[in-house]
Amino acid sequence: MENKIESLKKLAEEAKLGGGQKRTDDQHRKGKLTARERLDILLDEGSLVELDMFVKHRSQDFGLDKQRIPGDGVVTGYGRIDGRLVFVFSQDFTVFGGSLSEAHAEKICKVMDMALKMGAPLIGINDSGGARIQEGVVSLGGYADIFLRNTLASGVVPQISAVMGPSAGGAVYSPAITDFIFMVKNTAYMFVTGPNVVKTVTHEEVSSEELGGALTHATKSGVAHFASENEAECLLGIRRLISFIPQNYREDPPKSKPDDSPDRLDVELDSIIPESPNKPYDMKDVIKHIVDKASFFEVHELFAQNMIVGFARLDGRSVGIIANQPAVLAGVLDNDASIKAARFVRFCDAFNIPLLVLEDVPGFLPGTDQEWRGIIKNGAKLLFAFSEATVPKITVITRKAYGGAYDVMNSKHIRGDMNFAWPSAEIAVMGPKGAVEIIFKKEIEKASSPEEVEAKLVADYTEKFANPYIAAERGYIDEVIVPSSTRSKLIGAFQMLETKVDTNPKKKHGNIPL
Ligand code: HXC
Repeated sequence: MENKIESLKKLAEEAKLGGGQKRTDDQHRKGKLTARERLDILLDEGSLVELDMFVKHRSQDFGLDKQRIPGDGVVTGYGRIDGRLVFVFSQDFTVFGGSLSEAHAEKICKVMDMALKMGAPLIGINDSGGARIQEGVVSLGGYADIFLRNTLASGVVPQISAVMGPSAGGAVYSPAITDFIFMVKNTAYMFVTGPNVVKTVTHEEVSSEELGGALTHATKSGVAHFASENEAECLLGIRRLISFIPQNYREDPPKSKPDDSPDRLDVELDSIIPESPNKPYDMKDVIKHIVDKASFFEVHELFAQNMIVGFARLDGRSVGIIANQPAVLAGVLDNDASIKAARFVRFCDAFNIPLLVLEDVPGFLPGTDQEWRGIIKNGAKLLFAFSEATVPKITVITRKAYGGAYDVMNSKHIRGDMNFAWPSAEIAVMGPKGAVEIIFKKEIEKASSPEEVEAKLVADYTEKFANPYIAAERGYIDEVIVPSSTRSKLIGAFQMLETKVDTNPKKKHGNIPL
């Protein structure tokens, strides 16, 4: 028996070497960690239980029968993050460039099936040259098996992807179906076709980094939710994200011990809105004043910055925040902002995370660029997402709530549960100047001093309509609150909403305007 135990240990040690020391050194030289080193950072110390360590590919062609490396290029298993169960796979670039064979795919599918059965998040670390070229169609089949499972698991368990090396061709579609994508600057890239194909087809000269690096996807395409400076930052970011979300759609998000008083008044909020309605302020300051100390975790920070989305805690409970950012494009709703917010709302609703909307929006962005890129269907995505969400939903209007954007940003009419406004709120069909120029066009044109008349009309309109009280008279605003009391008001309201039950009509599934 002793011999057998020794030989088991030896086999395990061999498997852990992956593609060997030289390839491991190459990986380190590129600023990348190995598949196991990454899991060491991601998971609680010593918690990884590895499965299928001795799985080997079954290929005979192109001399592959002589290169059968145990594990076949991916480390799979389960472990813990802050004591909570997660399932993981981590592709090993040192073995055939982390390429996906039939056996490699089977290992990933096994942990995906387990994550679904056990109701625990799935985290995939991607570092792969794509389909194992020598295997041909069976590796394509393996990818499709993964895509199907990603789709079926969507909305059942949270799925998180880290891209830490190449992810090219159809291989990008597994991360794309998952809920969040983390990428590492300078070493990760994702594209459907690489720079060489791009050059042949469109004659564009572009580097891998420019075409599909972390910053490209975090700022331009919105494919990546996070662009990390290095691998450790990326993996610790995933741990932080997990701390806000539940294990599956049946559970509530974890509650942490609050380290901030629920009744804390914040007098700075009483003067945070500038006197002039055209002056910007930073909505992130408002968020930081309201939520539990240092708890704000921004998602999609570099994309569509006129909209802020992210997680935070209020008295220890997770909330998903969707906020207009008056400091960028005056917080206007455009195509990218609508898509960004809609996807975030749907994630939170799928996983029982209450929504907090902070609203200061002058309306939708006009123009041919916006119209031709589909602001109608993209704005509708956000409207649809808020309307169908059944989690507790609270809105605070800090300043402007104009036009269609008033309706869209979780208004009472689309099932906002508690809609607060600060006294600085301006809730109307449009801003005073625009309104006056339309309603009093003739009077202004006829006047001997048009500017004076217009200024007077704008002042009258502002006094009459640019306030929260007309909406409050109708019950569209439940309460006009003093800004400094926002934190305690929100904590009280979310507590009241804890037992909320709401449903949508029975259907197969809705048809969100994609
Ligand atoms: C088999 C592969 C491989 C692959 C890399 N390797 N990609 N083996 N199948 N797809 C092997 C290499 O032969 C090499 O083996 C080792 O991995 C490291 O690769 P290098 O090229 O030395 O590394 P690097 O210079 O860093 O370049 C990495 C790379 C490049 C950019 C990923 O290897 C590459 O372009 N690979 C091919 C990518 C590709 O076209 N994949 C198919 C995409 S189509 P040795 O033994 O020398 O260490 C696809 C379809 C999916 O994926 C469809 C799903 C629907």
